[in-house]
Amino acid sequence: MAKVSFVLLPVFVHVALALIPSYESLAGLTQKQVDQFIAGITISPIPNPPGPLVDDGIKLVDDSDHPFIPPGPNDLRGPCPGLNTLANHGYIPRSGVATPDQLVTAVMEGYNLGNDYARFLVYQAHLVDGNPLTNLISIGRKTWRTGPDPLPPAIVGGLSQHGTFEGDTSLTRLDDYFGNSAAFNEQHFSEFAAFSIVFGANKTYDINAAAELRHRRLQDSIQTNPELSFVAPRILSAFSETVFPTIFFVDGRLNNGQLDIQAARSFFHTNQFPHHFHRQPAPVSFPTIEPLVEQIFKKHPFVPGMNKGVNNYIEMPETPPLSDFCGIYEDIVMRVMTAQYPDPSGPLLEALNINLEFLFSAVEGHNCIQVFPYGQ
Ligand code: HEM
Repeated sequence: MAKVSFVLLPVFVHVALALIPSYESLAGLTQKQVDQFIAGITISPIPNPPGPLVDDGIKLVDDSDHPFIPPGPNDLRGPCPGLNTLANHGYIPRSGVATPDQLVTAVMEGYNLGNDYARFLVYQAHLVDGNPLTNLISIGRKTWRTGPDPLPPAIVGGLSQHGTFEGDTSLTRLDDYFGNSAAFNEQHFSEFAAFSIVFGANKTYDINAAAELRHRRLQDSIQTNPELSFVAPRILSAFSETVFPTIFFVDGRLNNGQLDIQAARSFFHTNQFPHHFHRQPAPVSFPTIEPLVEQIFKKHPFVPGMNKGVNNYIEMPETPPLSDFCGIYEDIVMRVMTAQYPDPSGPLLEALNINLEFLFSAVEGHNCIQVFPYGQ
């Protein structure tokens, strides 16, 4: 594997950025530019995904080694309150730019997310939003700090990139059609609080409140967003992220599935652990999360689809439904990822294949059949 030292990286970044303007189509480049770029490609070392935590019990994570420091003007934050919080406490580099293995470690350390679930989220995100060549991903918007991009149509947009991982019907963010879909939205959060008061036990955000709010967000987007898209893989992330706060944002000493609104605001708005916050008492993975997702789906079933104009939801039953986990894995790889990397070669192909292996290793427990977009 070709390697580039991190000391040399800044020089390479500037050379390559001058060579390949972001977002420009391949058709806009001369053959000489393409050849120069391919000849210049090197890839950063790609470490194996971290294994499970050794010490995987309950733990104070709002500790003195991880003080809350709000992001500085150049630090990047994005649509995920879970990761933003970890960055504000230094579990993720405070810049908001990290390697995938750093993210896996951070979500295990900070919340006790199970190792396979962490790998599933992270390598999925990296393949559609990260830079496979430099092995860096932004938890916020696109940035030069993830290094020189592969050629378009690769985007390397960071987690804020709409339509890759980030999508419509978020709990506390606007749909992209209406504005900044990565930013906290006070009006949506008011509804989050109101639904918790009406539907949740002890006026908390629990699984009942989650089911009603998930339904509400979809209905709201159907009625207002002419460009709503609610198909795989977004349907899976939307439902999982609806369940996450009832688990991971609840202090592990309490661990009763009931998130109070003050703690919810701390995570969603300030991106800060509540004072003395403890993570989950044991790793939480697919066996806990999937039944909860099913539970909220059953309260308000839906068929994947998209709006063709306001209040005109066209169902797309031919796309993978929420229950088809392996279908969604395939969709991520064969449709979403390959749209950005239709015909990779050389070190880029090598890097993509390594990350595809990492993603598949995280879904193996579901007995999915591995797909190979670039051959075996
Ligand atoms: C492990 C890697 C993770 C990645 C790559 C990731 C990525 C994302 C992305 C891209 C979104 C935006 C989706 C959208 O609403 O459009 C999101 C939302 C969200 N994430 Fe994460 N996330 C990760 C882990 C976590 C963890 C560990 C938690 C909880 C502790 C979490 C909690 C949430 C929640 C609650 C939302 C929904 C925000 C909303 O709808 O307002 N995430 N995440």
